[in-house]
Amino acid sequence: MDSIGPVGLQQGEGAPCYPQESLPCPSDSSELVQECLRQFKVTGAQLRQIQASLLSSMEQALGGQVSPASAVRMLPTYVGSTPHGTEQGDFLVLELGATGASLRILWVTLTGTEGHRMEPRSQEFVIPQEVMLGPGQQLFDFAACCLSEFLDALPVGNQNLQLGFSFSFPCHQTGLDRSTLISWTKGFRCSGVEGQDVVQLLRDAIQRQGAYSIDVVAVVNDTVGTMMGCEPGVGPCEVGLVVDTGTNACYMEEARHVAVLDEDRGRVCVSVEWGSFGDDGALGPVLTTFDCALDRESLNPGAQRFEKMIGGLYLGELVRLVLAHLAQCGVLFGGCTSPALLSRGSILLEHVAEMEDPSAGAARVHTILQDLGLSPGASDVELVQHVCAAVCMRAAQLCAAALAAVLSHLQHSREQQTLQITVATGGRVFERQPRFLSILQETVMFLAPECDVSFIPSLDGGGRGVAMVTAVAARLAAHRRLLEETLAPFRLNREQLAAVQAQMREAMTKGLRGEASSLRMLPTYVRATPDGSERGDFLALDLGGTNFRVLLVRVATGGVQITNQVYSIPECVAQGSGQQLFDHIVDCIVDFQQKQGLSGQSLPLGFTFSFPCRQLGLDQGILLNWTKGFNASDCEGQDVVCLLREAIGRRKAVELNVVAIVNDTVGTMMSCGYEDPHCEVGLIVGTGTNACYMEELRNVAGVAGDSGHMCINMEWGAFGDDGSLGVLSTCFDARVDQASINPGKQRFEKMISGMYLGEIVRHILLHLTSLGVLFRGQQTQCLQTRDIFKTKFLSEIESDSLALRQVRAILEDLGLPLTSDDALMVLEVCQAVSQRAAQLCGAGVAAVVEKIRENRGLEELTVSVGVDGTLYKLHPHFSSLVAATVRELAPRCVVTFLQSEDGSGKGAALVTAVACRLAQTACV
Ligand code: BG6
Ligand code: GLC
Ligand code: GLC
Repeated sequence: MDSIGPVGLQQGEGAPCYPQESLPCPSDSSELVQECLRQFKVTGAQLRQIQASLLSSMEQALGGQVSPASAVRMLPTYVGSTPHGTEQGDFLVLELGATGASLRILWVTLTGTEGHRMEPRSQEFVIPQEVMLGPGQQLFDFAACCLSEFLDALPVGNQNLQLGFSFSFPCHQTGLDRSTLISWTKGFRCSGVEGQDVVQLLRDAIQRQGAYSIDVVAVVNDTVGTMMGCEPGVGPCEVGLVVDTGTNACYMEEARHVAVLDEDRGRVCVSVEWGSFGDDGALGPVLTTFDCALDRESLNPGAQRFEKMIGGLYLGELVRLVLAHLAQCGVLFGGCTSPALLSRGSILLEHVAEMEDPSAGAARVHTILQDLGLSPGASDVELVQHVCAAVCMRAAQLCAAALAAVLSHLQHSREQQTLQITVATGGRVFERQPRFLSILQETVMFLAPECDVSFIPSLDGGGRGVAMVTAVAARLAAHRRLLEETLAPFRLNREQLAAVQAQMREAMTKGLRGEASSLRMLPTYVRATPDGSERGDFLALDLGGTNFRVLLVRVATGGVQITNQVYSIPECVAQGSGQQLFDHIVDCIVDFQQKQGLSGQSLPLGFTFSFPCRQLGLDQGILLNWTKGFNASDCEGQDVVCLLREAIGRRKAVELNVVAIVNDTVGTMMSCGYEDPHCEVGLIVGTGTNACYMEELRNVAGVAGDSGHMCINMEWGAFGDDGSLGVLSTCFDARVDQASINPGKQRFEKMISGMYLGEIVRHILLHLTSLGVLFRGQQTQCLQTRDIFKTKFLSEIESDSLALRQVRAILEDLGLPLTSDDALMVLEVCQAVSQRAAQLCGAGVAAVVEKIRENRGLEELTVSVGVDGTLYKLHPHFSSLVAATVRELAPRCVVTFLQSEDGSGKGAALVTAVACRLAQTACV
């Protein structure tokens, strides 16, 4: 049995490569001929070793291991599926690099119906040698020029043309239309192209040419075009094999096996780039002295060693080197050479193909040799035929070993006993040398007997496949444009944000004066932030955010100690009768008191009530209207403290001393103010959004006194309810507003806060689905469900530590079956919506801090903002976007954001403590 082992470890690695001139000529001529031909023989064992070594090289490269043994590159393309057969339209295809020194342009029409095919129009242009070796710009200008010439002859008019670029060199692709050349191979060596995006270079050249409007939508390797352009046989065609000037293959790989991709589902087409196999020395045992000589004289010595044994660019040259050697040793042509025989490139692939073909007959071989300036005898002709056959046979066998490596990899990774697969073949070697395919087939059968392979020639030399990929790329590009159009209104520029700041500022002034304004600017009767001398035990309630809480707050010399319990408020209670709601609140307090052993004590109570209230004193607050999800009846227009006291009265057993009612913004400001005396602003970005700040009392109409300060609850959630935000409001905002329990109200809040962002995203996703951009255009029941897309998903999806596949998992849990393109788009939608929210919030904060600075006539203001709210705290980028916007719009204010750690209940207790302290001082 043949042993299988890595070729690289075999004895003979790096076979000596001595210069051609010094090749020894043995005295026995028949021995010399045998020796030459023997060098080209590859044994079954050697083929198996190549197969095994290539397989392990492929697997290492897939696993992301960059080791010297990984000589194949395994480059992922952005092709994720084989054709549907529904692709349609007219496409231009430009092929560069597959077929030596020629460039081919095709006009391909895809009909969208399988079996119905239209012949493409095509034209070939010869690329002059100096262009292949000159500056890159010259090559791309040449291509653009050929395109114009081709199109001039077609009646295409001025339409916008979509082009697929078949570029057959190793490239790192980063998108369907982005591809960086790693290195030139085959006969090309243009300067300034390696490391550049070849799509951009082509676009630039087309632009310079200026004749046609051509959009380069996709770039593909020739192997990919070959695979995609094959009419499916028994099963889908999942391997593309090219043997033309060079050689390579691509195949459909499981995405999870490709380490460089952040993807665990589906398949992706990978270009093996096996031409470079052996560049690390692994081919040592099978390299002949002629291979070494050929490599040394090539444009890229040491590179593409495997390709140089198989590719059509090299077969003729190998034959020439052998014939020249034999002639020089006197075995051929009577020991005579000719200048042509000694010149590089004088024997081409087509010569070898003809000379090797037994049916062509001796006469043809004779003519070819004569054209090379040689005078062959009858035995010479026969020997030359042997040489050609040996070189070609080896090429086909080596190619088979490589293909067998790909097939066995597929068979193992798909865990199939027998792999049934279709391989699309393309390239001139197949066309010109019929024997190549039969040797290849035979050898593959020998090396991979468990694979049942059908070989099908690709249509239109791969041009059709390139058009297929282009069609898909064009569809994706159209989707991207629709996504951008949809999200454009969410992307606010500096001017728009400055306008929001200015409008907010104006509305603040009007609201403070008591003039018509969407900002109510409610006095809170909080005149001072804590001074640290407050002491005592207090009860606090915290109603209106995500959680309803009852707290015991102990303010002592050593600091503040808090014990709290969260109670739920069922939606039926939040939206039931007022009496029911307040009875429920008192029940919770009683429960808390019992659990804490506080029953019977009448501690002072601070009530954080996070809704707009007109306060007439610290312990009086008339609810103006419910916001967020609350809508309990018979409360609006009532004093909330009275409603609470009445409920306490109904529950005869308890006594409570309600001292203060506090908005959550105020509670947050006070809570942070206990630690930092600069904290003069409170900000909430949670279920709802709002801010409060310390205003000069003289600016506050309706409250007596001209000196000192008072905290103003802005109720900025209602900003824009007079229509002033109209220009910024999108159709999605309008839909969210219309479906809410308070249409037309809290318009600013509905663009910013947690209760609404998920809904905005959901409406955008519905729209994109209806455009066919997302979820293949299929509407799901799930996405039609209100509030299914929670705002916390935005925080999760936008988290930097999440890979795209985790984003997909979150969405799939929601019942949204999506591709990675979909996942990326959903992420972009979330980003646009939360970015706008943070920027609008920042514009509001900028208006507030600027007002404080101007009130005080300061050149520069240093101020802290106490912040709370789940969106602000949980979202990965919200806080930094708010801060960045404030820096931009209020450059003369140095603003520090402090996150409240204890919620606004602590603040309510502190307000109560200050009130108690002041009351005691007054009594003394
Ligand atoms: C909490 C406060 O910490 O933040 C609440 O104690 C406030 O009173 C809340 O309403 C705001 O955030 P959310 O996300 O709970 O609405
Ligand atoms: C070379 C190129 C490769 C191409 C092959 C066949 O090996 O590097 O990208 O597919 O030739 O044209
Ligand atoms: C809503 C309320 C407001 C509160 C804010 C944050 O906008 O009307 O009073 O401060 O939500 O919870």
